[in-house]
Amino acid sequence: TAKRRLSPANIEALKGERPIVSLTAYTTPIARLLDPHVDFLLVGDSLGMVLYGLDTTVGVTLDMMIAHGQAVMRGSERSCIVVDLPFGSYQESKEQAFRSAARILKETGCSAVKLEGGAEMAETVDFLVSRGIPVLGHVGLMPQLVNTTGGYRSVGRNEKEVAKIRRDAKAIDDAGAFAIVVEGTVEPVAREITATLRSPTIGIGASPACDGQILVSDDMLGIFNDFKPRFVKHFAELAPAISKAVEDYANEVKARTFPAIEHTFQLKR
Ligand code: KIV
Ligand code: NA
Repeated sequence: TAKRRLSPANIEALKGERPIVSLTAYTTPIARLLDPHVDFLLVGDSLGMVLYGLDTTVGVTLDMMIAHGQAVMRGSERSCIVVDLPFGSYQESKEQAFRSAARILKETGCSAVKLEGGAEMAETVDFLVSRGIPVLGHVGLMPQLVNTTGGYRSVGRNEKEVAKIRRDAKAIDDAGAFAIVVEGTVEPVAREITATLRSPTIGIGASPACDGQILVSDDMLGIFNDFKPRFVKHFAELAPAISKAVEDYANEVKARTFPAIEHTFQLKR
């Protein structure tokens, strides 16, 4: 019998019990490796940069998110799967957001979506949640706003920014998000929000006090090393390991030491 997956409600209930563990996953084999160790896997739109070489997440499409959501569902059985709504698929109206989110749930079988935004998205979050779509919020540094906010600078550095983050987090919390990602804020703000919100905060570049933590897997595994933000810790260095393996392979092919006879098919006699 299939084991039951953690639900968004299960994730929400972990606040105050123990820290929530999360990582991104985009593919079946990586999902298989991460699934036993995390509470939820995020199919993040960071895949645009990490997998597709885009400069920002703005070019990621709903079809890309659905294809990778399906792949991650196939590679997991116990963790809760959350798929990012990409830029342009939800900002226009709450109806557009519902249509996009419903496609994600119906076509992937995942149980929740994530969207970036604060007070301006609260009505949308309420619309989705009250109609059967669990929502993971995302406040603080919001990568989809790169073209208006100018980039990936941490936020909460003056009173005006702090007030906005407080307001945004409260609005998404009140709207019924089951958890809220807090990205790239000065530490005391993330700590304060965590203490005041009903729903759990999931920090990335936020605070050890957050109710949970998330990282981009390719960052923490040392695969994606185009840049290393301050908040990333390398728990492994896979890029040099891959380079070394490929170099060895190239050398063995050129030296005709690979393949050996044991790697070939022989006629049985
Ligand atoms: O797309 C992503 O990977 C994310 C996480 C960093 C929270 O949104
Ligand atoms: Na994202």
